[in-house]
Amino acid sequence: MAGNCPGLYIHIPFCSRRCGYCAFASGLYSAMPADAYIEALWAEYERAGLRGAAFSTIFIGGGTPSVLSIPQLRRLLSMLPIVEASETTIEMNPESTDTEKLVLLRDLGISRLSFGVQTFSPHGLRLLGRAHDADTARQSISDAVKAGFHSINIDLICGWPGQTLESLGLDIATGANLGVAHISCYNLTLHPESRLAAIMEHNGLKMPGDDEARSFWDATGTAMRKAGLDHYEISNYAKPGFHCRHNCAIWRGGEYYGIGLAAHSHVGGRRYWNTENLEQYLDCIAKGQDATEGGEILPRYEKAKETAIFWLRLAEGIEADLFAEKTGYRIEKLYERELPHLLAAGLLEWYRRNGRKCLRLTKAAYPVADSVLVDLA
Ligand SMILES: C[S@@+](CC[C@H](N)C(=O)[O-])C[C@H]1O[C@@H](n2cnc3c(N)ncnc32)[C@H](O)[C@@H]1O
Ligand code: SF4
Repeated sequence: MAGNCPGLYIHIPFCSRRCGYCAFASGLYSAMPADAYIEALWAEYERAGLRGAAFSTIFIGGGTPSVLSIPQLRRLLSMLPIVEASETTIEMNPESTDTEKLVLLRDLGISRLSFGVQTFSPHGLRLLGRAHDADTARQSISDAVKAGFHSINIDLICGWPGQTLESLGLDIATGANLGVAHISCYNLTLHPESRLAAIMEHNGLKMPGDDEARSFWDATGTAMRKAGLDHYEISNYAKPGFHCRHNCAIWRGGEYYGIGLAAHSHVGGRRYWNTENLEQYLDCIAKGQDATEGGEILPRYEKAKETAIFWLRLAEGIEADLFAEKTGYRIEKLYERELPHLLAAGLLEWYRRNGRKCLRLTKAAYPVADSVLVDLA
């Protein structure tokens, strides 16, 4: 196993439909550009010197990787050291999942599936502009369980206009009853230029206010506990042992390579990212150039702060000695001005895990976690 190696992220920028709320780098799927894109991924992978490299975890995200055809999936996955990684996740959308693809993925050693469900509510699915209906979502998850996948995530979106606490609870219970071991529950981010923002404006729909958002937060926690899923990161819940290793390593400041359109990398203390323009990406790779659009090396002090902010997202918090070892800074010193105030306000707390001193967000801080973390920037 490749335990101490970096992670690998591969981006597939194609979807069967563009959802009304989404701002991720993706466009509509069609076979020819997807073929060319997969060859470009290969070329970028080789150019980055990754052939023969080992990765602790691999995450194939998008966009919608499951929109690829069977030969395209086969070609894509043939370049990756899947079996050696401790976890390989692929994002699937219900409308492009079928048994043949599931069997292929299982046989190639994919260990974790992440389904973009968002909600099982027919009204919610229509409002969000999803390409699947609730039955298709239920069916694709049961098919994955039948195909032998144990580690299945569903993504849910919380706080869309018209969502009730009951429908949110039902979304979580439905997922859990279907056998998923992990649920990501994201608060809806409304991008002002999105189709959803226009629909909401046209119909006088509003985002939940602070009190309502707080009720959604509490209802999420209650339903997850009932389903046996522990809260381990701001937006993530899992059965014991089923947390996403790839993301956990990133939240702890781990290194990773990103291959593909708009993919970000964090290697050797440097962050860099690829262009978001598909034509430009394909063109650069065809010319044997790299497709990097920008990069930065953070000074040590900034880097330590960035590490703290990411790491505090995890419910287990930051182990103080380990943080000092990784960053060269004691967390108590780094935040000597902010800590007393955040501890006194009950937003951060010290505790001991296996005898080791750790700093974490309190339960009261979670619904306002983003504003607490901004204070530490
Ligand atoms: C990059 S998307 C890719 C997954 C897949 N294509 C899908 O649509 O489900 C990953 C997840 O981000 C979440 N997401 C995307 N846009 C969002 C938004 N505006 N607000 C909240 N969550 C969002 C959705 O839950 C989605 O499943
Ligand atoms: S949410 Fe997923 S399927 Fe929808 S447009 Fe974004 S990446 Fe594509």
